[in-house]
Amino acid sequence: MDKFVIRGGNPLLGTVRISGAKNAALPAMAAALLTEEPVILENIPQVRDIETERKLLVAMGAEVELGYGRAQHRTTINCRNLNTPEASYELVKTMRASTLVLGPLVAKFGRAHVSLPGGCAIGARPIDLHLKGLEKLGAKITQEHGYVEARADRLKGGHIVFDKITVTGTEDLLMAAVLAEGETLIENCAREPEVKDLADLLIKMGAKIEGAGTSTIKVKGVARLRGAKHRIIPDRIEAGTFIIAGAISGGDLMVTNCDPNHLTSLLNKLEEVGVKVTRNGESVRVLSLGGLKASDIVTEEYPGFPTDMQAQYMALVTQADGSSIVTENIFENRFMHAQELVRMGASIKIEGRRAIIRGRTPLSGAAVLASDLRASASLVLAALVAEGETIIDRVYHIDRGYERIEEKFRGVGAEIRRIGELLPRKVHVQAHA
Ligand code: EPZ
Repeated sequence: MDKFVIRGGNPLLGTVRISGAKNAALPAMAAALLTEEPVILENIPQVRDIETERKLLVAMGAEVELGYGRAQHRTTINCRNLNTPEASYELVKTMRASTLVLGPLVAKFGRAHVSLPGGCAIGARPIDLHLKGLEKLGAKITQEHGYVEARADRLKGGHIVFDKITVTGTEDLLMAAVLAEGETLIENCAREPEVKDLADLLIKMGAKIEGAGTSTIKVKGVARLRGAKHRIIPDRIEAGTFIIAGAISGGDLMVTNCDPNHLTSLLNKLEEVGVKVTRNGESVRVLSLGGLKASDIVTEEYPGFPTDMQAQYMALVTQADGSSIVTENIFENRFMHAQELVRMGASIKIEGRRAIIRGRTPLSGAAVLASDLRASASLVLAALVAEGETIIDRVYHIDRGYERIEEKFRGVGAEIRRIGELLPRKVHVQAHA
């Protein structure tokens, strides 16, 4: 397994360009299942989860071109010959977002056989709300041998009220409703920008959707959808990660090709902490002259402080004077980075859903372990400011959602390199004549 070796102490200076949003690209690729015409998506991030989604679609019989040439970062997906509306455990266990194919498969093919995703490091992460919503639209759901079987001759419009706000649940049901017969009203929807981006693509494909990006979405089902071309929105979590990197390293960083309007809660919080952020058009300039002050956060659904930025923020406030309380309201087990930060010298106490971070504590480089995508990012941020060398193991977690992250960090002055697992050298035993 690859490792990162990072030597701390360099302020990040210069410009870093943000890639397309993984969490917008994944539902958009699933939306291609809803039509027999080609769907072209641009600004696709070159990350492991996108490759997993490509394999998933190809296994169903879709044709997927995926190119990352300088100009491209584009995929063309054609599902006209799709013949196997199934998502195997082998693939789903590596990426729970595979369940995003449920809604489109039932809507378009009347059947979906999808492995239950199982839990993951940060929590149980059930999909009960996805399934309840599909039943509301007339799907017959059975579960056996770890798989969900969903069937419907044709989905019928219905009224769905989510018990809890769920991002991929909203996306799954939106994609089911666009081909259902009649009208669907979905309430208590997720308002994340990635939901709105999916709806923008579906509308280009001919869907009739109102209210995406708000808590209430209205859909008028149509008989069929056409192909479309769509540019995926920038990754707000990657942008937020680099903005905190600029802050924690005491640097002066220009983060470009992002949408500051998707980062309001984070940027406001960073200003409270004492970081200078300047929003303009499609970039954010972050300037940190030290003297950070502690400040509390509570993670909430969008537009609140994003749970996907919690770990990165925790790393930052280890360098802020005073105690910060981080409350994680979305997932039940999303503090695994805390113990690794403690090993680097941080002072963090966990009490249920709250973590109390007492700063400012100097950090020292150490050998640490990545546990999930955003926890890994948090360890990289801590390593940037730690004295000496940090070795982060299992960085495949970070490769799931960050494109060429070590190149991007090196490009703005970080001392970071990737070391692959040294393959055991073949021992040549000379046969003695
Ligand atoms: C999406 O996951 C993101 N993934 C996650 O990003 C993100 O952390 C999460 O939303 C919250 O913002 C993608 O978009 C691919 P949820 P999702 O359904 O949709 C509970 C990353 O780092 N719930 O909004 O799976 C659930 O357990 C990833 O890129 C149910 O109880 O999250 C959680 O407590 C990590 N039943 C809460 O709702 C359900 O049927 C929110 O989960 C569905 C969810």
